[in-house]
Amino acid sequence: MADQLTTEGRVNINTAHLSERTFRKFSDFIHARFGIKLPPAKRIMLESRLRKRLRELNIADFDAYAEYVLSGNNPHELINMADVVSTNKTDFFREPYHFTLLSELVLPDLLQKRHGRSKPLQVWSAACSTGEEPYTLAMVLSEYAETQEEFPFRILATDLSTRVLKHAGQAVYAERRVAPIEMELRRKYLLRSKDPGAGVVRITPQLRKLVQFRRLNFLEDPYPEDHCMDVIFCRNVLIYFDRETQQNILSKMCATLRPGGYLFVGHSETLNGLNLPVKVVKSTLYRKL
Ligand SMILES: C[S@@+](CC[C@H](N)C(=O)[O-])C[C@H]1O[C@@H](n2cnc3c(N)ncnc32)[C@H](O)[C@@H]1O
Repeated sequence: MADQLTTEGRVNINTAHLSERTFRKFSDFIHARFGIKLPPAKRIMLESRLRKRLRELNIADFDAYAEYVLSGNNPHELINMADVVSTNKTDFFREPYHFTLLSELVLPDLLQKRHGRSKPLQVWSAACSTGEEPYTLAMVLSEYAETQEEFPFRILATDLSTRVLKHAGQAVYAERRVAPIEMELRRKYLLRSKDPGAGVVRITPQLRKLVQFRRLNFLEDPYPEDHCMDVIFCRNVLIYFDRETQQNILSKMCATLRPGGYLFVGHSETLNGLNLPVKVVKSTLYRKL
């Protein structure tokens, strides 16, 4: 390691190289623990993302890091690894037609069937990333609630990565990120920073308190109880999993849906070929049988 030391005595991580053999060790492990598949073409991406962990821990090379994290002796490092290997791209009102379908088709149908039931409507934003999806849901549901006599609802938002959940909980976003939100909704649900130069906004406390964030690894953690969810948004995460993992995750997810509940998946995702108790309503929207 000596020839890799910098003048400050720190290890020079920039020269570390992730070999194909060590990449396979990581990718097998990441697949087993998080379900995320990393084909060989992702080696350079993984090398650059894990380099941040090496730097943080002052570990000289990827083999030493593999030993550190895969030995099972440093379970807290798994959380950090999940943070760096997950892809968290998201947006407010991403795939906006889903939110139109929610207010124009799904909610009226659920409300009609809920006749006489006083329990709040339960929505799950599964794989919520930095919070844009659950806060969009909170805006859409709040707007819908204003058109109804009584419409209590709750949103559970979960993700594998604690880093994104922390961001989501803080609910502070760069101004450019909120561009997809209509001006009227921005006025209602976003607070400007006291420092005008900061270029950030924050979700209002009323909206924040409608969303409960929790870490949930689809592969390892218990799911919400059976038949408690009315609507699930599980978008742009299934693409990271192989068919077998999708089948396992979605079977458990569908079990949490009440009969007649709805499941949204991302625009490039499909449940075709999977054995699930759902029926297609529209492309990317399914109803539990
Ligand atoms: C691309 S983002 C999608 C965010 C949002 N649903 C959307 O459509 O904009 C995918 C998210 O899935 C999460 N994820 C990946 N593997 C997961 C797992 N095994 N369990 C739970 N979440 C996972 C990632 O941390 C990431 O935040």
